[in-house]
Parts: sequence; C-alpha cells; structure tokens
Amino acid sequence: MLWIKDAHLVDPARGISGRGSLLVKAGRIHKVVVGEELTAATVLTLLDGSDLAEVTQVDGTGKYLFPGLVDVHVHLREPGQEEKEEIRTGARAAVRGGFTSILAMANTQPVIDTRALVEFVRLQGERAGKARVYPVGAVTKGMAGKEITEMVDLKAGGAVAFSDDGKGIQSAETFRLALEYAKLTGCPVISHCEDASLAGAGVMRMGEHSARLGLKGIPATAESVMVARDALLAGATGGRLHIAHVSTKESVQVIRMAKAAGVDITAEVNPHHLIFTDEDVPLTNTSYKVNPPLPGRADQEALLEGLLDGTIDLLATDHAPHTWEEKAQPFPEAPFGINGLETALAAVWQELVAKGKLTPEKLVELWAVNPARRFGLAGGTLAEGAPADLVLFDPEWRELVTVDNRESKAHNTPFLGRELQGFPVMVWVGGKLVMKDRKVLD
Ligand code: NCD
Ligand code: ZN
Repeated sequence: MLWIKDAHLVDPARGISGRGSLLVKAGRIHKVVVGEELTAATVLTLLDGSDLAEVTQVDGTGKYLFPGLVDVHVHLREPGQEEKEEIRTGARAAVRGGFTSILAMANTQPVIDTRALVEFVRLQGERAGKARVYPVGAVTKGMAGKEITEMVDLKAGGAVAFSDDGKGIQSAETFRLALEYAKLTGCPVISHCEDASLAGAGVMRMGEHSARLGLKGIPATAESVMVARDALLAGATGGRLHIAHVSTKESVQVIRMAKAAGVDITAEVNPHHLIFTDEDVPLTNTSYKVNPPLPGRADQEALLEGLLDGTIDLLATDHAPHTWEEKAQPFPEAPFGINGLETALAAVWQELVAKGKLTPEKLVELWAVNPARRFGLAGGTLAEGAPADLVLFDPEWRELVTVDNRESKAHNTPFLGRELQGFPVMVWVGGKLVMKDRKVLD
C-alpha cells in the first residue's frame, strides 16, 4: 500500500488540479483526496489497514503527481535492429522519461505483420516489466504498401493500432482498404503522411535554409497532400484515422476542417517540431535530421495553436533511436530520427510549460488522457480503480543530458550536452515503483 501526500495532483479527465493525497492498494488507485490533509488514522481507515508500517509514504511537497504518460509513437527496433534499441532498453528509457505505456511501431526487421510477431513484441514488453508495451501491427505485409495484413488476427495477438509508420502508403486504394478492414478491429489506423514523389530524396524542410545549407529539401506539401487524402478516405469509409507527427500549417488546417465535417480523425505533434525549426538545423549535427523534417516558424506556431484549440489531440515522442555510426555519416546519408523518450517531457516542460505556453493540465490531457482514450488503453487518469500508473514530477530537477546516465541504447538527441529542467523523479507502473531519483530500478 502506498500513500503519496502533499503533491499537486493533476487529472484533467476528472477536473482535478490541486494539492492532495493519493492512496494505492493492490496495484490500483484506491482513493484521491484533493484540498484536504489526511491524518494517518484516516489513511488507515480508507485503506482498510491495521498498521501504518504496511503503508509506504511518499512526500510530494513541491512536486506534481500526474497519471503515467502514454506515448503512442515509439520505435523499439526489436526484432532485427537491437544495436539501436531493444524492447527492454526502450521500456526502461520510457519509465525514466515518465511514460508508463508506449506503442511500439511495426517498422522492425522483420516488420510486425503476423500475429506471432505481435505476440513476441507484447511478451518482450512483459518480460522487461517496465513501461507497458502495446504493439502496433503493420497495415501492409512487409510494409510494402500492397497487401493488407490479417488485421483481426493481429488484434487478437495484442495489436492496438495499425501503421506502416516510417513509410507513407502511396496507393490511395490500399489506404482506403486499410481503413475499411481496420473497422473490423475497432483500432485506429496511424498514418505516416508522406507523398514519396514530392518528398523525393529530400533531407530537411525545403526553403531558404535548405538552400543555404545546400541540402535537398522536402516540401511541406509532401505531408499535407497526404493528410488531405487520408482525411477524405476516413470520411468516406467511416474508418478511424490518427495522423502521426503533424508538422505543417496546412496539415493543421486540413485536420481542423475534417473534424468540423465529423471525420473520425485525431492527430499528434512531436516535441521536436514544437521546439526546433528548420533554422536550427546544423549541417554537422544529424541529430536534427528527422522525418517529417523540422518545420518553418509559421508551421510551428500553427502546431501550437492546433494543440491549444483541440485540432491536435495529443503529444507523442516519435522516439527513433539510431547508432552513432549511422548518425556519424554526412547529413544526406544519415537516417532520419530523434531519440525522445528520456528528454521529451523535460524539453516540453522547459520550453512550453515553464514559458507559459502550455499549462500542466493541458500537458497531462495531451500526453496521458487523450492518447489512452484514443487507443483504448488502461491508465491515463487518476480515477479510483484505475491501474496505479503514476509519475511524481519535480519541476525544479535539473539534469545535464549525457551518454552516461541514459537507458536508451542510442543517443541521437539534439539535447545531448544540454541541461534541461523539470523531470520525473518517481514512476510507478501498476503500483510497482520502477524509477526513483532518476534511476530505473531492477
Ligand atoms: C522513424 C524511424 O527511424 O523509424 N524516423 C523518423 O525520422 N521519424 C520513422 C518515422 O517515425 O517515420
Ligand atoms: Zn513516421
């Protein structure tokens, strides 16, 4: 049994934001009391306990207590590319970053396109015993963009969504079929919106800065025309659509229109697209190379506006680990991807919440409540009876991001060598303490 006291509890799902206590019993949230101090006797009564020695007490003074964050866009690289990340290391990095549930993308080697592979990902997640790992099944076999996978079977194995993320599905008819078949499972299709003919061999956002650096550009339309196509197909089929990593102002406009028209569409934004722009891309640091590429300033403003007005539903890291060797190549050759799990929350806190652009309540709505709801996952709330997936967050904790104190196998983050402020200091999954004082517990 656990008694977390004097923390600032935040749960927009229940309209809670205030100082109070949270009690945990048998791995679940037992009682939430805000605006009132509990005595030890009351706590014992509430927990049906007889001895306070059975209750672990945690002092939350000066800290926030959030529901465990839910990250719906994570690349764990297992099977096949364990040199970049393993399910075990990724699940450890997740809890160190404040995430108690993560969705593992299907672009592994082989691609997660059979029930056996879905079950493998789920079981490796259970073995790791850190963040809950939910598999995403591929939309097409081998992510070749042609034949739809056995979606009903993949769902039976534990898939909670379908995606060929990493690659846009070029054929409109294939994507239409995917939305249609996915309806049989009730799961959303996550779309990586990228028109290959427009993206070409580009490596950063097309514009003045790509021209100045002499790098091939990717036009904003490579994303937005696909968002429009997919929104129209979702409207026509009645399928459930989720747009991954939205990065252009036109995409935000299209999603706003689609929502107004009643399309079942949700969308995510990644922290790096809110924090950096194409102007920040240095030729010599491929940690800034990501797909979709870092946006222009006007795009970034539209993304934040979309988050605040409800057009964009959630935040997700798009944790994309790559090795030093791969990222040490010249900018055009290095793979796309930013390592996010261990820095994303701190970066968003420092750059958006601490600067007054996002409230702590909105942060929790975007990174716990909404993702859990959209993908039908347990958690994401401090409701009594919910699994005790919890994050004690210290807004004062400062930390230098170095290769030595990380759980992820890879270090391809623009924050390497920088100090960030605002980190989770204790994390519980199902009532079990899995991270304390920034160390993952074994
Ligand atoms: C991702 C990866 O490395 O798998 N890379 C990236 O730059 N975002 C793929 C993806 O999310 O599209
Ligand atoms: Zn993608």
